[in-house]
Amino acid sequence: MGTAGWIVVGAAALAVIAVVVAVAVLLLGSGGSRGQAPGPEQVRRGEEIYQASCASCHGARGEGDPNWRTRNADGSFKSPPHDNSGHTWHHGDGQLFNIVKHGGQGYAGPGLASRMPGFGEQLSDQEIRAVIAFLKSFWGAEERRYQAEVSRSDPLP
Ligand code: HEC
Repeated sequence: MGTAGWIVVGAAALAVIAVVVAVAVLLLGSGGSRGQAPGPEQVRRGEEIYQASCASCHGARGEGDPNWRTRNADGSFKSPPHDNSGHTWHHGDGQLFNIVKHGGQGYAGPGLASRMPGFGEQLSDQEIRAVIAFLKSFWGAEERRYQAEVSRSDPLP
């Protein structure tokens, strides 16, 4: 092969390397999507959604309503905290996803009106996964470990 031939081979090899690097960057950059551990970008997005759509009821730091264990006059629940003092961390990822997407009515007792709205119209499934990833930042190591265990049989859809 003459010099020109080697230049062509060299250029082709460089092009292949460039494609491999580009694909690797794309794959790494998409961390935190479905089936992967939440990445910092997903948690940051979840925090934005939480502060915009959830904090008005559940509190900016996930502290919930004062005296949240007492009922409202109509028998409905107050907004519970999402931090260690609540029971959000008792539920698997799949149930949390359903509550955020479809609201609390499906889990309320007969004759009870839920005040937890469903967000299926406002938030994409990806955004719901992000806000759930953010809720986990309210928990301690023990709560996270427990909830990860529960989620093994109740994963995110
Ligand atoms: C209008 C007030 C309100 C808003 C806004 C709201 N929630 Fe709720 N949420 C509640 C109430 C009240 C409950 C208690 C359960 C019920 O009444 O059905 C609840 C329950 C929950 C639960 C179940 C907690 C448990 O311990 O079982 C989760 C999870 C939750 N909310 C997440 C969210 C997320 C995430 C957002 C924002 C995307 C949000 N909520 C926005 C009022 C609200």
